[in-house]
Amino acid sequence: MPLSSLRAFEPALAHAAEATERTMDRLLPKGTEGEARVFEAMRYSSLGGGKRLRAFFVLAGATLFKVGVTPALRTASAIEFVHAYSLIHDDLPAMDDDDLRRGKPSCHKQFDEATAILAGDALQALAFEVLAHEETHGDPAVRAALVAELAKASGAHGMVGGQMLDLLAEEKGAEPLSIGAITRLQRLKTGALISFSCTAGAVLGKAPEPMRAALSAYAHDLGLAFQIVDDLLDVEGSAAELGKTPGKDAAAGKATFVSILGLERARAQAAMLADQASAHLEPLGTAADLLRQAAKFVVSRRA
Ligand code: IPE
Ligand code: IPE
Ligand code: MG
Ligand code: MG
Ligand code: MG
Repeated sequence: MPLSSLRAFEPALAHAAEATERTMDRLLPKGTEGEARVFEAMRYSSLGGGKRLRAFFVLAGATLFKVGVTPALRTASAIEFVHAYSLIHDDLPAMDDDDLRRGKPSCHKQFDEATAILAGDALQALAFEVLAHEETHGDPAVRAALVAELAKASGAHGMVGGQMLDLLAEEKGAEPLSIGAITRLQRLKTGALISFSCTAGAVLGKAPEPMRAALSAYAHDLGLAFQIVDDLLDVEGSAAELGKTPGKDAAAGKATFVSILGLERARAQAAMLADQASAHLEPLGTAADLLRQAAKFVVSRRA
């Protein structure tokens, strides 16, 4: 069933999750070689969980520009591999030291720290291998653009840079961050990968620049709203709902919108950003209705 035949967000997300999971399963290594432990850890942390919101964004964007199912699902898998890698490393004792992820022991708890580091590294490499393969797009220039965009979003000027700022801010004696500095941190650590997800369909479909810019503006605001809600849920959610341990941000002294603005104002900020995100979709008309619903979901979700 193509995503374009789905009018409502929830079934569209469920469909994206299921179809992407099947593709990821096929792309992940499997076997009984001596090194199979790392295969197992990669599968453990990337399959069977997660909302798959990034995959949904890729598929929704791809649908707008009539991209084929295979390129869309391979690109959705690539971003979910990078996301899974970022979560494995984020949970390590040297970073957030979290024992629970997606309702089960984090990778380093289920395996060990070295295996978790290697599984993260290999998931990242796999993502780029998938994007670079000719099945992802017939035009090598499009494949190169996807590789470059994902590298930028993942690396020092994207997720990794944001994670560095996040860790530096929790160090003893660190200056409290201003709202502007937290905004930048969150746009990097979470927003960059969400931006890749929302614009990948436009890259695959060689969409006109104004369309791509609209999706990019949507992602810019929604990525920030997404992380603000993650920070709200860390305070207000339960382990059963979230599948991860709540209360960790305050305990670690993390710089978040909640720590600076308080719950009420942080919630209002997220809602305002989600509305603003949807407003950017105007040039795409009603074809972007699923993305408008996704923006509502991002700020009303409980996990
Ligand atoms: C959690 O992301 C990490 C952040 C970037 C805030 P998600 O909330 O999308 O995690 P999953 O994929 O659903 O587990
Ligand atoms: C993580 O942010 C962002 C990543 C780049 C993985 P968090 O540390 O808040 O994510 P959770 O709450 O552990 O999922
Ligand atoms: Mg973190
Ligand atoms: Mg964390
Ligand atoms: Mg969090």
